[in-house]
Amino acid sequence: MHIGIIGTGYVGLVTGACFAEFGVNVVCADKDGEKIGALNAGKVPFYEPGLEQIVEKNVKKGFLRFTTKLSEAVSQSLVVFIAVGTPPRGDGSADLSFVEEVAKEIALNLDGYKVIVTKSTVPVGTGRKLKRLIKENLKDGGDFDVASNPEFLREGSAIEDFMRPNRVVIGTDSPQAAAILKDLYNPLYLLDTPFVLTDIETAELIKYASNAFLATKISFINELSRLCEKVGADVGTVAKGMGLDKRIGPKFLHAGPGFGGSCFPKDTRAILTLARENGLDLRLIESSVLVNEEQKMLMAGKIKDAMGPLGGKTLCVLGLSFKPNTDDMREAPAISIIGEIMKEGAAVRAFDPVATGMAKKVLPPGVSYFKDPYEAANGADGLIILTEWNELRNLDMGRMKEILAGDYFFDFRNIYDPARMRQAGFKYFSVGRS
Ligand SMILES: NC(=O)c1ccc[n+]([C@@H]2O[C@H](COP(=O)([O-])OP(=O)(O)OC[C@H]3O[C@@H](n4cnc5c(N)ncnc54)[C@H](O)[C@@H]3O)[C@@H](O)[C@H]2O)c1
Repeated sequence: MHIGIIGTGYVGLVTGACFAEFGVNVVCADKDGEKIGALNAGKVPFYEPGLEQIVEKNVKKGFLRFTTKLSEAVSQSLVVFIAVGTPPRGDGSADLSFVEEVAKEIALNLDGYKVIVTKSTVPVGTGRKLKRLIKENLKDGGDFDVASNPEFLREGSAIEDFMRPNRVVIGTDSPQAAAILKDLYNPLYLLDTPFVLTDIETAELIKYASNAFLATKISFINELSRLCEKVGADVGTVAKGMGLDKRIGPKFLHAGPGFGGSCFPKDTRAILTLARENGLDLRLIESSVLVNEEQKMLMAGKIKDAMGPLGGKTLCVLGLSFKPNTDDMREAPAISIIGEIMKEGAAVRAFDPVATGMAKKVLPPGVSYFKDPYEAANGADGLIILTEWNELRNLDMGRMKEILAGDYFFDFRNIYDPARMRQAGFKYFSVGRS
């Protein structure tokens, strides 16, 4: 089968490369000439473990091609995926301008029957809207069905998530489109991956409902961590005790500096807007968003409370990306927390194993960047861990103690043992552990 993918970012490129790995002929298109240039030169323009190898292998085999011309990704393809961004607008709703622009362009290039699939996360009703839009712009001889196939991959383990997903959701009213998509996903079907076949609206909502639920789990444990600190309980053990109950499960119950990334913040806001447009207030999700905003500010507050006025002080921040194994800085807690402490007058020395390039684009200009955690810590009055990268889990505390000028240690991912850190001579602060 030949397929086209429009939008070659985190989702589009992983989807394209993984389908190529299944033996499908894939053309990935993107309007960003620099990105396509890099891909054609054998370089993946962002960090995702294992992706470069799959891309290289399938380009060599001829299963994967890159272009800036959308028409090339449409012309020979039976299935065309839309995987462009749906960033938040000022009012929290999803900006569909990229999706609509692409849908119109696909319509102008349709030369036979094709299934047009939204892989981007889009509000309920978008599939229907695209159907109308494509019909209005269709050229002679074009025929199509629309489907929703939301993506659930996690950055940092995107390939594994795509190759072994918990489920594949397909929403369409067309039995022909459903059959074609099942055929495309056959390698996963053979692995007993559960398939949810449903209508477009339900598929669209499954994606938002899933992200809102996971975000709520994080906000739940973050809010509980505040109570743990007051009553002398350990949030890690509370979460473990809860998570062992199979009805609850252990995932997404790690207290920390708040959720970030390209999905949870924007998707929770978008589902709230969608609900409001339909005359509803989703109070639980509203609270999750609020708790998350508070959580980031609480972390900055912990630093200020412990160290006093930050003017003239230097803080070392280790880990900048919103989670490990990605260079994605979109809505990373580091942005708010660093912004807040710098506003209070602190100087910031930062280290991240891969996200420095992306961080420079979004963090205040005064931040200094280092290639090594010890270099970053040199002479700082305190150290803050914001991302639980593996390379930060086993720092040499003796060496750290020697090179830091002060002894404040803020471990906002709870990766170190409080008693041992205090024994090592640090004024140690974490989240939800007294
Ligand atoms: N990143 C994730 O972890 C993740 C997971 C699941 C779902 N999603 C959803 O998938 C969608 C894409 O997310 P992403 O993180 O891959 O975004 P991204 O910003 O990394 O990539 C989007 C790409 O689309 C391209 N694009 C925009 N307009 C275009 C046009 N007219 N023609 C061709 N290309 C165009 C951009 O240049 C960019 O390369 C979003 O809706 C997101 O919510 C993301």
